[in-house]
Amino acid sequence: MASYDVIVIGSGPGGYVAAIRASQLGLKTACVEGRETLGGTCLNVGCIPSKALLHATHQLHEAEHNFAKMGLKGKSPSVDWDQMQTYKGETIETNTKGIEFLFKKNKIDWLKGWGSIPEKGKVKVGDEVHEAKNIIIATGSDVATLKGVEIDEKIVVSSTGALSLPKIPKKMVVIGAGVIGLEMGSVYARLGTEVTVVEYLDKITPTMDGEVSKNFQKILQKQGLTFVLGAAVSGVETMKTKAKVSYTLKKDDSEEVLDADVVLVSTGRKPVTEGLGLKELGVEITERGFVKTDGHWKTNIDGIYAIGDATEGPMLAHKAEDEGMAAAEAIAGKAGHVNYDVIPSVIYTHPEVAAVGKTEEELKDAGHSYKVGKFSFMGNGRAKANFAADGFVKILADKDTDRILGAHIIGPMAGDLIHEICVAMEFGAAAEDVALTCHAHPTYSEAVREAALACGDGPIHM
Ligand code: NAI
Repeated sequence: MASYDVIVIGSGPGGYVAAIRASQLGLKTACVEGRETLGGTCLNVGCIPSKALLHATHQLHEAEHNFAKMGLKGKSPSVDWDQMQTYKGETIETNTKGIEFLFKKNKIDWLKGWGSIPEKGKVKVGDEVHEAKNIIIATGSDVATLKGVEIDEKIVVSSTGALSLPKIPKKMVVIGAGVIGLEMGSVYARLGTEVTVVEYLDKITPTMDGEVSKNFQKILQKQGLTFVLGAAVSGVETMKTKAKVSYTLKKDDSEEVLDADVVLVSTGRKPVTEGLGLKELGVEITERGFVKTDGHWKTNIDGIYAIGDATEGPMLAHKAEDEGMAAAEAIAGKAGHVNYDVIPSVIYTHPEVAAVGKTEEELKDAGHSYKVGKFSFMGNGRAKANFAADGFVKILADKDTDRILGAHIIGPMAGDLIHEICVAMEFGAAAEDVALTCHAHPTYSEAVREAALACGDGPIHM
């Protein structure tokens, strides 16, 4: 039995970051992880492997659609799926090994196995019980199942199965037009799969700014994805190598059926809180199954904290990382800080989609008087040169004070461009502050400046 200042349960982006920060702050730290490798869902079966497949298939798309236009002639590459899987595996490995290195560097003990909390101040891993002055629950989330749909990870898959299909399917039905559905749907559409996305609501990525969502749908349709909106999936029937997806169209209650070789269920995720002994300890859980925390990531039980997907808020790796750092700081007696109003979200399709702050719909609903500054990538020289002129930057600012309230970008490198606005918002900047900042030419970021200019006297290149 060992004794620690902090034991973190779970080594995903929330957990490993919490452990590193705790150790940096002089706390004796261990992290419990039952997987063979560190990094949680994100590094092993989520963000990182999906980005590898998105990158590889985007290169294929470029070769097939844009190389000849640039004078790069010759046969476009053929797909070696096994090699693409190897590349994906190697990408995972370098990342998970990287965390192992960081643990060693920061003298963090990796307690291998699944952890539980038998009593306050104790963490059990296998047969061993360790003492911990503080415990951070960072157990993440798991795929939420859908009534009438059984995931077998062969024909009916979650995002995990979708990353490692034995072969590229001819027909894929994606249930849910959220982040996972559209990222993985894009991967397979680029590989030649006929992809149909069935979505319950009337728009794709329903929480996104409406204008972006509409534009995004059009672009994805151009790329070959088909959408069935306003459709509630009622069940999936599997045969030996195929499946039938039944859904009801909300507009007229008609029943429809789609055939598929593979069905991806991407209708959301649920927090992992089972098997930890939380109920027995009396740790409060919300109605929706999340660990309840106060403003300092503390649960109702002294010395037990929780962060990331296991708690309320957007299920995003970077939200978990910020909370991990902040919780470790709070334990060390410092003021941990997370600004929940400035958490960006990104969809890594091509073009990328990124957002921070309020959507136009949210401002309308709140009766907030705002102005919109918009700039299309059609007016951006770099984007035109790179065949990446689809999309726009939209900045929402307070009508009277010009303070930036939100930004929505669909376009090249949107996931990187959004951070200029995040920093601006952290500093309480006005759109004019961004507009008056010199931006290098020719860069995609000029489109952000032009959108900021559009909040004032107008953009130059439109
Ligand atoms: P999601 O919450 O993003 O989207 C689920 C979609 O499924 C919604 O549009 C919803 O209306 C629809 N839906 C629900 N029930 C349905 C039904 N019966 N029939 C048809 N449609 C239905 O969930 P997703 O894509 O599974 O992602 C899970 C979590 O993982 C999200 O919180 C997401 O933010 C996170 N994630 C983030 C990524 C990123 O930041 N790039 C990448 C992958 C996942």
